[in-house]
Amino acid sequence: MNFTNIEEIANYLVADGKGFLAADESTPTIGKRFDAINTESTENSRRDYRELLFRASGMNENISGVILFDETLRQSAADGTFLKEVISKTGALPGIKVDKGVSPINDSEEVLTGGLDGLEKRCSEYEDLGAKFTKWRAVMKISNDMPSQECIDANMQALANYARIVQDHNMVPIVEPEVLMDGEHSAESCYDATSKCLNSLFSNLSANEVNIKGTILKPNMILAGQDSPAQLSHSEVADLTMKCLLENVPPELPGIAFLSGGQSDIDATANLDALNKKGGNPWKLTFSYGRALQQAALKAWLGSNENTLAAQEAFSHRAEMNKLAALGKWTRDLER
Ligand code: G3H
Repeated sequence: MNFTNIEEIANYLVADGKGFLAADESTPTIGKRFDAINTESTENSRRDYRELLFRASGMNENISGVILFDETLRQSAADGTFLKEVISKTGALPGIKVDKGVSPINDSEEVLTGGLDGLEKRCSEYEDLGAKFTKWRAVMKISNDMPSQECIDANMQALANYARIVQDHNMVPIVEPEVLMDGEHSAESCYDATSKCLNSLFSNLSANEVNIKGTILKPNMILAGQDSPAQLSHSEVADLTMKCLLENVPPELPGIAFLSGGQSDIDATANLDALNKKGGNPWKLTFSYGRALQQAALKAWLGSNENTLAAQEAFSHRAEMNKLAALGKWTRDLER
């Protein structure tokens, strides 16, 4: 695929009914996922697992971009083909996570995502390696005095600095300000925190002269904390999420690709579907799911190549369901 500018890449990534597979778990995080299925995490087991996803039939027609961790972008499949080429053959674009994880702000419980040091050089290399887009994730927690405005502004400024550098290297930045769903907080608290983050993010992006038409937003949906007894219906999630986005996100942004953040597979699909059924949004609304696309596949795979087909089937089903949700055409009876 040839693109003449980042706006074309961004539009390709959020084409109707397509979304992202987030397969960019760091080595410690994929280690935890593999622990849960009693599988040792080695370079080869990580390769085998990711290769099976990229070769699944569900990649075609449903996935426009795959977010990779550094190791995977450089890795070859068992037959020697680069994994990034396996991805490209499905029509999806390879992308790369470029942040370097989080560290505490002033010994508090709040964290700042780092990775700006050397980013220019890393982007230059990733561009040469064929990455077409990148991801940077900022993380905000909710409790009585969190997130603080200081934490929000520091993270949103870093996201804007990252986005500027990435665009200078002809790649599309995915900007991910994640308000975590951990805890007992209300949906209103999530709404307030998300609204403050998005407001700060878009003023920082504008101050850094980031091209919004060549940017993709990866936010959380508006949800009550996962331990709250007052959970919202799918339609309430859609109403509050849409309101928050309409109040804070400029219409020229091409697309919004939600993270799943710990929602169940079905909730992540049902909420996206409710958003798209609601309509009235100037941007494409799609998925950029890690766990909600992979949980079923991991459980089916269990670290054994004998289960490759079952794992591919499980992943393909979720990819197809989320495609329908991105079009507002999913129904509960399509699930098994
Ligand atoms: O940065 C987070 C991942 O790309 C998305 O993961 O869907 O499991 O929240 P998740």
